[in-house]
Amino acid sequence: MMELNIKVAENLFLSPMGCGTWAWGNRFLWGYDKTMDRELQQVFNLHVSQGVTWFDTGDSYGTGKLNGRSETLLGKFVSEYRGDHQNEIAIATKLAVYPWRLTPQSMIKACEKSAERLGRKVDLVQMHWSPAKYLPWQEKPLWDGLVQLYDQGLVKGIGLSNYGPKNLQRAYEYLGEKGVKISTLQVQYSLLSTYPFVKLGLKQLCQDLDIKIIAYSPLTLGILTGKYQDLNSLPSGPRKGLFKELLPKIHPLLKTMDVIAKSNGKTMSQVAINWCICQGTIPIPGAKNLSQARENIGALGWRLSSAEVTELENIALNLDKQMIQNIFQTN
Ligand SMILES: NC(=O)c1ccc[n+]([C@@H]2O[C@H](COP(=O)([O-])OP(=O)(O)OC[C@H]3O[C@@H](n4cnc5c(N)ncnc54)[C@H](OP(=O)(O)O)[C@@H]3O)[C@@H](O)[C@H]2O)c1
Repeated sequence: MMELNIKVAENLFLSPMGCGTWAWGNRFLWGYDKTMDRELQQVFNLHVSQGVTWFDTGDSYGTGKLNGRSETLLGKFVSEYRGDHQNEIAIATKLAVYPWRLTPQSMIKACEKSAERLGRKVDLVQMHWSPAKYLPWQEKPLWDGLVQLYDQGLVKGIGLSNYGPKNLQRAYEYLGEKGVKISTLQVQYSLLSTYPFVKLGLKQLCQDLDIKIIAYSPLTLGILTGKYQDLNSLPSGPRKGLFKELLPKIHPLLKTMDVIAKSNGKTMSQVAINWCICQGTIPIPGAKNLSQARENIGALGWRLSSAEVTELENIALNLDKQMIQNIFQTN
């Protein structure tokens, strides 16, 4: 079943699922090294050829010697891709709210740098997080930068990330007064991170404001794939401690996901991603190799029943523990 792209701004359409590329250049959490590049290009090509045509990146994905690596790789992959859906490719980047970015011009410069690495204009520019909790006066000049990027035609759409409802409403009104609409909100959302909907009420607010929700970490950094069930086979790096704490508390969820996956002829990863779609979000699972990419793309073309969606949600809400929230998530 071919799925229709979603209109998020006047000239910007996104496939109902994107591909996250944080791991494409990040050594610390994801163990990236350059030998992965060949396969990452195949991952990119497979996504596009199968109609998953948009990619989420960030100017902080790849730091130090790997500065901007994810964007640079995407630039190369886009320019070399020939095939189906070529004209539908869209790149969403996130501009980090570094403490030295203080003026509208600093956002414009940052976006121009991203465009340089990408070898094309950024389609959707997102503010990676809000400084409201620690440096509130930094925010408005950066919003002004987003407005100027849109007004100057340097981007097709504006998005925010890690914003809670109060802060989102403020941004919506401020940008609205300048004639610019927020198209998307990107938050950490999955069966183990229901906080943005259940506690923050972002689903209703975004519906009211006509803002599309992008669900990041829909596999909760990989734990919902089911491959890390055993405490002896945990990933190395910072995920190890996190998963060690989560695993003993989430068995009921993993078990039900497995049953539902099998009864649909799908995998647990596909169930996790499909659940996010059924909740009205656009998920962006990360994929580091071809087999992950194939599996994640298989989350499209079918839907969980509403009874399955509710069953999974009820179990998730009754767990003793969920995923910690991003420290930058605001209210
Ligand atoms: N706005 C923000 O602040 C923010 C924050 C985080 C992420 N994001 C965005 O969201 C995207 C996705 O989130 P994420 O990468 O954090 O987490 P995720 O999508 O929940 O998990 C991705 C990881 O899970 C594993 N995996 C993926 N598919 C798999 C499969 N089919 N089978 C087995 N393992 C699989 C891979 O890691 P292993 O193979 O190493 O297990 C992969 O790197 C990011 O790439 C980024 O674009 C945004």
